[in-house]
Amino acid sequence: MAGSQFPKGFFWGAATASYQVEGGIENCDWAEAAREGKVPPCDLACDHYHRYEEDFDLAASLGHNCHRLSIEWARIEPREGEFDSREIEHYRKVLHALRKRGIEPFVTLWHFTLPLWFAHKGGFENPEAPQLFARYCARVVDSLDGLCTHFATINEPIVYASNGYIRGTWAPFKKSAIRSYFKVRKHLAQAHNAAFEAIKKVKPDVDVGIVTHVILFHSNSNPFNRLLAAGMNWHWTHAFMKSVSAQCDSIGLNYYIHKKFGDSKTYMKTDMGWDSYPEGIYDALIMLKRYGKSVYIAEAGIADASDRMRAEYIRTLVRSVHRAKETGMTIHGFMYWSLLDNYEWSHGFEKRFGLIEVNYETLERSARPSAYVYKAIIERNCLIE
Ligand code: FCB
Repeated sequence: MAGSQFPKGFFWGAATASYQVEGGIENCDWAEAAREGKVPPCDLACDHYHRYEEDFDLAASLGHNCHRLSIEWARIEPREGEFDSREIEHYRKVLHALRKRGIEPFVTLWHFTLPLWFAHKGGFENPEAPQLFARYCARVVDSLDGLCTHFATINEPIVYASNGYIRGTWAPFKKSAIRSYFKVRKHLAQAHNAAFEAIKKVKPDVDVGIVTHVILFHSNSNPFNRLLAAGMNWHWTHAFMKSVSAQCDSIGLNYYIHKKFGDSKTYMKTDMGWDSYPEGIYDALIMLKRYGKSVYIAEAGIADASDRMRAEYIRTLVRSVHRAKETGMTIHGFMYWSLLDNYEWSHGFEKRFGLIEVNYETLERSARPSAYVYKAIIERNCLIE
């Protein structure tokens, strides 16, 4: 049997994000949007804020040795310049709970939701935003001292800017606001770079990076389509990454979507309506190779309520990640999205990404069969073909 062995110490786990799982966050822009009826309410979500011990027990029982989570800015800095020491203490407990179980934490400092005071000041359109963000990041990293060494500043800056300022489907719901969109992109790059510097001042030894969502644009052999794909990859991924990669110790990749120009093939669809194309993670990784950084998969996964596609989807992801490693790239971890079913932004709770199913009536958790397929891969540190 041919095996695809991963290096000893490779990180295997799953990811979540604070607003999507914690519950009880009312002082951020998404909660305000829900009160205004613009997006589905999140309310208690999975109540992970109170049930993280139970959730980490499950992660440990599924073999995970790492976990990606995010910190809710609105909890930590509920009013401008006021930092809530009880909430910092909460996240210290969360990280401690992971460490106790031998699970390495990967912390994202900002995953889409903004404190109301910051959103009301114009969010990332405000020229002060990069400095305000950097102050928050440095404060958090400093206070999580000794509990975490892997940090990402921003999750998916371009998804955030596009959905908020072009498509108008996410807070702050601006449609086709092209000038705002480019301003926000610029300020997000500045925010990352300023946060990197601020963090390094207080904790020079921690690993700091960014998490980028690569949409894989590719094409058939038609020269026009090839050019189109190259242009889109430039606009979506490289233009931004070029402006932040010098200030990255590592890069987190999120991969879900591909678009092949001139393609007539029909694909199986995920519950999001996206093509099922897990093998594309190989090309997405190769796109990041030029930055010469160690890369980890910060998210890749499938919405599949029936759990009929998930196991094979994971196998193909892992096989493709291994192929990318074989080209000489440094890849140090793989985090499936998501550990739990959760709040999927403008879709609410209907989409099921979890390795673990959540019953939202009772909040009961149960691992799906595919979670055990992933567990077998983790235990062997290898994909058996
Ligand atoms: C990514 C987001 C994550 C989740 C997945 C499905 O773009 O980072 O929060 O919604 O998509």
